[in-house]
Amino acid sequence: MHSELNGITEIRVFSPATVSNVGSGFDIFGFALDEPGDEVILRITKQKGIRILKISGDNGLLPMDTARNTCTVALSSMMKKLNLNFGVEIEINKKMPFKSGLGSSAASAVAGVFALNTLLKNPVTLYELLPFALEGERISSGMTVHSDNVAPALFGGFVLVRSNDPVDIISIPLPKDFYCTILHPHIEIDTAHARSILPSSISLHDGIKQWANTAGLVAGLMKRDFALVKRSIEDNVAEPVRSKLIPGFEKVKEAVNYFNSFGFGISGSGPSMFALTRSKLDALKIGNIMKKSFAQANDGNIDSDIFISSINIYGPKILG
Ligand code: HSE
Repeated sequence: MHSELNGITEIRVFSPATVSNVGSGFDIFGFALDEPGDEVILRITKQKGIRILKISGDNGLLPMDTARNTCTVALSSMMKKLNLNFGVEIEINKKMPFKSGLGSSAASAVAGVFALNTLLKNPVTLYELLPFALEGERISSGMTVHSDNVAPALFGGFVLVRSNDPVDIISIPLPKDFYCTILHPHIEIDTAHARSILPSSISLHDGIKQWANTAGLVAGLMKRDFALVKRSIEDNVAEPVRSKLIPGFEKVKEAVNYFNSFGFGISGSGPSMFALTRSKLDALKIGNIMKKSFAQANDGNIDSDIFISSINIYGPKILG
């Protein structure tokens, strides 16, 4: 197998953070950010099996156990399916917060399978990598399959997950000059918990509102109708329940709504919140507003970070 690799047995890749749900699209919409993200170094070894050599940037919190780590679970599923007769060792550099609603587990899972596929000269398509990365994601979300972080991390851009089985992912063209501001409060929300508190059913009335909004969001993005995007991002299903887990959420939302943003919501299962703007300057300004209103709402008791990013349209990238 080493000869098939042309002597290259090591690769370093970046895989992006993602904003999933995007308001009304619970479990079906997501987009990728240019930053932050994870870096993974992967090496092919003669010794069989998967080993984690090092994880940095996680304050010792992520599992070194390959059966519980999202990156190695994804790799293991890929290696079994492709029947690979060598081993791999990896180093993970977490360059983004986890349990933050920014798709940290998806970023690591995608980084692993993308790295291995690239080293092997792409024996499978990006589309075929998705189920492997999802195996990793499954570990962190309480066994439910949802591709709205993994798919944008892998394909880049804004995606619609029309179906998980069979997998049907649609890329939605984005307007140019599309910026995202993330406010990341320094609290953690466990995705499995954030899913467990959601209602198991919704009324027909709420369903109608929600699917009208998802259609409106896609139409707004494709028609570059930013007022329509803003109206359609409204989420009547997850936000009313999950926003209670985020102290100061209403104050931040109120502050953002005064500003020139064309969309605000909880990123994934939270606690991060996102705001969309059309210029970097607006993204920076709104970042200040979000941080200030969050601090005021919490009497300065909870720290937060701001990330400003353009939209990542390529997905993971090779760093070396
Ligand atoms: N769609 C998922 C959720 C994303 O909101 O639970 C979190 O990984």
